[in-house]
Amino acid sequence: MTRVLSGVQPSGVLHLGNYLGAVRGWVTDQRSHEAFFCVVDLHSLTLDQDPRLLAGRTLDAAAGLLAAGLDPEDCTLFVQSHVAAHPRLAWLLECTATFGELRRMTQFKDKGGNSETVRAGLFTYPALMAADILLYDADRVPVGDDQRQHLELTRTVAARFNHRYGQTFVVPEAAVPDVAARVMDLQEPTRKMSKSVGSPLGTIDILDTPDDVARKVRKAVTDTEGQVRYDPVTKPGVSNLLDLLGAARCEDPIAVAARYGDYGSLKRDVVEALVELLQPLQERYAVLSADPYQIEQILAAGAARAATVADATLDRAMRATGFLVPPKGFAP
Ligand code: TYM
Repeated sequence: MTRVLSGVQPSGVLHLGNYLGAVRGWVTDQRSHEAFFCVVDLHSLTLDQDPRLLAGRTLDAAAGLLAAGLDPEDCTLFVQSHVAAHPRLAWLLECTATFGELRRMTQFKDKGGNSETVRAGLFTYPALMAADILLYDADRVPVGDDQRQHLELTRTVAARFNHRYGQTFVVPEAAVPDVAARVMDLQEPTRKMSKSVGSPLGTIDILDTPDDVARKVRKAVTDTEGQVRYDPVTKPGVSNLLDLLGAARCEDPIAVAARYGDYGSLKRDVVEALVELLQPLQERYAVLSADPYQIEQILAAGAARAATVADATLDRAMRATGFLVPPKGFAP
């Protein structure tokens, strides 16, 4: 069975971009693949994190994933920092990727790559992401459009390592959805929806109440043309709404556009579709979040399962690199 791996940062409960761009696909993938999904808490440290909030946000993210439909019977769900092989393999991959490759990453440049005070971890982040993927011999990595470049780098690094040290890693493929691969901010529709940047009005959280959703969609920036057409370049706001409606109703956004004349009726239907989409997630979240201990148990079992696979791959990579392998029973 082919393997799938993907991850999400613990920026709290998921936003609509995470859900439509990635997590909804994970729910399908878990049934047809051997699937590993992680909350990548180590990655979150590339930006400032309040130590009093990080653990709670990690649990919230896990609850969000379970509410979205991940099932611990069908997939392995774990927290990245619980599996020690991740930062260990990341070091080998930092020594495989080049400075020039990491410097060209657009996410690094966007998040302040020119600043002297930017964290070194933000620069080496793609090597840690490559480790997340390669440790599980993942064939397929379901992600939103913004992660394509990181996936390309992962492929380059895996192939280079294999070439240098002999066949060690599976070279993975990115799986990006056809619709809503890049959900845009409702207030600034030329920028992707994100919790770490942008105004709260621009981002829809999967736990937003129907009133919140209605307010945000009603205030979503469109344009003065007044005509519904799907054209992400000249009409980014309207096209984003069409993408949302298309994704929520599993329809092609161009076909959706043909049914609407004015922006008001489009917005009304976007609200209705999103409220309907989110309601079952919110009901499951309410049940799950009432029992954080159960989530911790799921994550602990997931980390144990993940570590078995990850440790074997790390061992293979360490041997291939030529490191002195410690005697059996040695626990570092
Ligand atoms: P993160 O936490 O920013 O986002 C998690 C997933 O959600 C997708 N996504 C979006 N999709 C569509 N529209 C948006 N506005 C939007 N915002 C986010 C992302 O593409 C991603 O698939 N580097 C990764 C986390 C990561 C990872 C990995 C992913 C770490 N290790 C290994 C895959 C495999 C990130 O920061 O995603």
